[in-house]
Amino acid sequence: MRKYEIAVIPGDGIGKEVVPVSLKVLETVAEVHGGLKFDFKEFPWSCEYYMEHGKMMPDDGVKTLSNFDSIFLGAIGNPNLVADHVSLWGLLIKIRREFEQSINIRPAKYFKGLRSPLVNPNDFDLIVVRENSEGEYSEVGGRIHRGEDEVAIQNAVFTRKGTERAMKYAFELAQKRRGHVTSATKSNGIVHSMPFWDEVFKDVKSSYPDVKTDSFHIDALAAFFVTRPQIFDVIVASNLFGDILTDIGGAIMGSIGIAPAANINLNGKYPSMFEPVHGSAPDIYGKGIANPIGQIWTAKMMLDHFGEYELGQKLLDVVEDVTNDGIKTGDIGGTATTIEVGDEICRRLKKVVSV
Ligand code: NAD
Ligand code: IPM
Ligand code: MN
Repeated sequence: MRKYEIAVIPGDGIGKEVVPVSLKVLETVAEVHGGLKFDFKEFPWSCEYYMEHGKMMPDDGVKTLSNFDSIFLGAIGNPNLVADHVSLWGLLIKIRREFEQSINIRPAKYFKGLRSPLVNPNDFDLIVVRENSEGEYSEVGGRIHRGEDEVAIQNAVFTRKGTERAMKYAFELAQKRRGHVTSATKSNGIVHSMPFWDEVFKDVKSSYPDVKTDSFHIDALAAFFVTRPQIFDVIVASNLFGDILTDIGGAIMGSIGIAPAANINLNGKYPSMFEPVHGSAPDIYGKGIANPIGQIWTAKMMLDHFGEYELGQKLLDVVEDVTNDGIKTGDIGGTATTIEVGDEICRRLKKVVSV
């Protein structure tokens, strides 16, 4: 029996709707497989928790999480209760940093039955490798001067180690795919960190002569995601560029509610964290209409991380069939609820998964 211990943080908003549905799907995967067991332990850390305890998680929260095989997280953020910078630095970003989850992998590809705004949605399959620990998301900066002449400064921090790490990951991933890496840059002399980014890219690429490369400024690259996403295989991007590109990745699939993600700890010292690209969506929370596919596909990425590739692929095939048969939420053109989509996936999983 293969057993995985998973810390579950549903978080805020629709995280509390899509996580339970995804856990049910994972339970079903384990049940029908027979040789697999998931031990879920749920933690209520969220903005509501903050209102009660004055912090997003207990002081020993990170230590508690370190004992798990992985972390499965919904979304964090309820700006009506807690300012986003407080909730995010206090939980989400804290976990990414403390557990050295330096790589964020975010795929986007054609999926049967989706409602993509693209004319030819069936010809793209890309993965963004987002640098996840530094860059524009640095703690360096702050407000200087208050009052009428108020000023805020944000310093981007790019280390050679962090930049190389993301790029090497992208090249190695491309070697297992279609052998092409695109660098997301902005090196036309405006952003100081980007000529450095280009230099590291050139150095790293020299070790992978079998991989083709190109490089686009982030503004043009964002437009190409919409006009010709089929030219991309693996894209390596800084933290902020990768953040923005991957919401577009969701959009070209048909909804940000579909896009999955994995925050990977590369050295194996700490757990990795699986949370979709989307946020807590306060505008639709409580209506039961959130698309659970992003969270379920994220669960598939967690299965991949455990080496359960075949099972993960079966799960994604079932999700695709269910979507293609029109059992889908409103954001992608259906009328089903979050729970109905999850239940249909479970029902069909019972037919296809075997040991
Ligand atoms: P969001 O991703 O929550 O929502 C953007 C839009 O997409 C909304 O219209 C929403 O209804 C829609 N959407 C998102 N997920 C959906 C789903 N599964 N099904 C259907 N529609 C979906 O982004 P936002 O509005 O910018 O942020 C809301 C809150 O979430 C903020 O507090 C933000 O900081 C936080 N956030 C958290 C995470 C995270 O924890 N990983 C990620 C992004 C945003
Ligand atoms: C994401 C989110 C986070 C990010 C926010 C909520 C800090 O947008 O995971 O894409 O920017 O990394
Ligand atoms: Mn984002």
